[in-house]
Amino acid sequence: MQINCTDRELFIFKKIANAAWDLNLPCYLIGGFVRDKIIGRSTKDADIVCLGDGIELAHKVSERFSNPTVSYFKNFGTAHIKLPDFDVEFVGARKESYQRHSRKPEVEPGTLEDDQNRRDFTINALAISLNKEDYGRLIDPFNGVADIEKGIIKTPLEPLQTFSDDPLRMMRAIRFATQLNFTIAPETLAAIEADADRIRIVSQERITDELNKIMLSPKPSIGWDLLFKTKLLHIIFPPMVDLHGTEFIDGKGHKDNFYHTLQVLDNICEVTGDLWLRWAALLHDIGKPATKKFEEDGWTFHGHEVVGARMVPRIFTKLKLPLNEKMKYVQKLVALHLRPISLTKENITDSAIRRLLFDAGDDIEDLMKLCKADITSKNKIKVKRYLQNFELVQQRLELVEESDRIRNWQPPITGEIIMQTFGLTPGKQVGLIKDAIREAILDGEIPNNYEAAYNLMVRKAAEYNLQPIV
Ligand code: CTP
Repeated sequence: MQINCTDRELFIFKKIANAAWDLNLPCYLIGGFVRDKIIGRSTKDADIVCLGDGIELAHKVSERFSNPTVSYFKNFGTAHIKLPDFDVEFVGARKESYQRHSRKPEVEPGTLEDDQNRRDFTINALAISLNKEDYGRLIDPFNGVADIEKGIIKTPLEPLQTFSDDPLRMMRAIRFATQLNFTIAPETLAAIEADADRIRIVSQERITDELNKIMLSPKPSIGWDLLFKTKLLHIIFPPMVDLHGTEFIDGKGHKDNFYHTLQVLDNICEVTGDLWLRWAALLHDIGKPATKKFEEDGWTFHGHEVVGARMVPRIFTKLKLPLNEKMKYVQKLVALHLRPISLTKENITDSAIRRLLFDAGDDIEDLMKLCKADITSKNKIKVKRYLQNFELVQQRLELVEESDRIRNWQPPITGEIIMQTFGLTPGKQVGLIKDAIREAILDGEIPNNYEAAYNLMVRKAAEYNLQPIV
């Protein structure tokens, strides 16, 4: 083998090769597996291309293991076997573009060369023979290995043709460049710029898949900046574009919120691999363009955290990101991202600290990570001062939490108790009484216990002419 495989992988490939020899079907390892082996990335699946019927080969291979299920798509000539620790996909070599998600059922058989020609990038068109005569030989018609060494993403054919076969490849180019820290070849990049508009025909799910892969890369700013420069971003995510640029009035400018956001995103990636905290960083200032104003002292973005949080569900819907607790988490962090900063001022009361603990709950650590990532000043002294202030806030948070146990806290009087005590059905008054109790405890006006809360409930209810019935 001209690539370094594990013993387990070699064992699997030998079985595949034997099955193919039985059928007299030439076959090859191809695509991402070969690329990742040469790069040295971990692998857990492989694509096999054969000159013939991929489904037939998959069945023969399955027999050589303990008959794992072969899932296949007859129309597309693809088959898939899930081994305990490794997935293998089989496909017959074809003349047309290789797209896993293509809806086009017509598949015209081709040679290995045809198949390699129609793949997306030189680094993804590498093949390893599994045939008797040259088992393990690397077949690299487009100098993909050299491109890996040089760190270049380049299409095997004329880029406009490769992209027109599947416009998602424009995003794949940017995604690979981001994941691998590679450069997109100038002519390939120019073709993306020229063809960006064609991304519109690609489904949102596939686009968002690529965005998430960019987000999970070590330095996602590379991808977002490329999306911006190629103008793909203008089509797939205009609110991000609105963050770009600086405006000057009376010689006063504001920072470019697009590049600030990317810096915050890269910063957070150094301390978390969590996709949703990364999305929160990307969206933390998304409300700024809508709230921008020039006032006496300069530019302001008052309430951008509120506006931004309100935009999150729309953005998630548009991008087909999940509309579940992940969305709520991102929304919450966007809404709260200025709060810890406001606590760095002097004379902050315990009640302000309690409130933040209550509002952030279990996400308080993530919120603090986001706030630290938000410090992008180039002035080292300023950065040091901010971080020291955050350290103080952190200590206060810990002290207040230790004494009051506010995060995950629920007030001792529930809506249920209020309704039972006064014979009420759900309604506005129940909410008002409940809020009053919560606020009084958070403000430290009454202690955090049942008795004090009960007494306040009775006093508050009396304001609405309510008397306990039990
Ligand atoms: N491919 C392609 N065009 C596409 C998608 C895939 O040419 N639009 C080819 C490439 O040769 C690629 C292979 O199909 O290497 C497998 O595709 P896929 O599994 O989607 O990607 P990988 O390259 O394996 O990378 P990753 O697993 O990181 O997505």
